Amino acid sequence: MAANTLDALFQRRAIKVFDGGEIPQALRQQVLEAARVAPSSFNSQPYSFYWVESPAAKEAVARLCMGQRPAVTASALIVAVADLGLWKVTTQGQLQWMRQQGFSPKKISEYETKAKFAKWFYIQGWFGVFGAIKWIILRVLHFWKTIGMAPVSRQGLFKWATKSTALACENLMIAAEALGLNTCPMEGFDGRRLSQFLGLSARYHEIVMVIAIGKKSPRHVEPPQWRRPLEATVKIL
Ligand SMILES: Cc1cc2nc3c(=O)[nH]c(=O)nc-3n(C[C@H](O)[C@H](O)[C@H](O)COP(=O)(O)O)c2cc1C
Repeated sequence: MAANTLDALFQRRAIKVFDGGEIPQALRQQVLEAARVAPSSFNSQPYSFYWVESPAAKEAVARLCMGQRPAVTASALIVAVADLGLWKVTTQGQLQWMRQQGFSPKKISEYETKAKFAKWFYIQGWFGVFGAIKWIILRVLHFWKTIGMAPVSRQGLFKWATKSTALACENLMIAAEALGLNTCPMEGFDGRRLSQFLGLSARYHEIVMVIAIGKKSPRHVEPPQWRRPLEATVKIL
């Protein structure tokens, strides 16, 4: 087991064969809590996780991961989904929490304004018409002001949500390692069939990755780990 975060980070490998033993509920909870506290754009947490552990569901999902060995041997499979359908629940939840916590009326009103803006951030309109209008407005504004581009298409929204989802996935994998578990992130899956299996809607959901989790089997053969040297990856200005 890793003694600290850095150990967990450097020890983590993509594991190809797991021992298939059960993951205690307390560990499952901790791993998912670690994903939950990851940073996200506007703290919008635009993702859902499906923890698949029942034998029948796990077998079905492993098949949709093309029967890859990590998927077949894992104790559980976690499907990480970029989820555009949660913004209302999230903003309302945060408002309720702020009220319970006794935030000042000014802070609450500021957040209410932000929450109203969230709607326009997500809405792209019929056939993306509103997205196109947003694009034109932002491009015109850009002549005068230094501004960031908000997503102006569904594809752009998914790209935006995927960043936060992937960070939550990394949190989850590092936490798993720190707790004595191992993982393998996978994008080798049939997205359309897996979405159908989970009852997801293409309008709001896109599967980002499936994470196989469990304890690595003694049969797992660890290849040496290669990365580009730092100079080839980093430019220091
Ligand atoms: C987004 C993503 C998708 C991946 N998809 C797969 C996959 O489908 N099957 C698999 O065996 N490994 C998959 N991997 C694991 C990578 O192959 C692995 O992380 C990489 O080779 C480096 O090895 P290491 O993680 O052990 O250092 C994926 C990793 C990431 C981040």
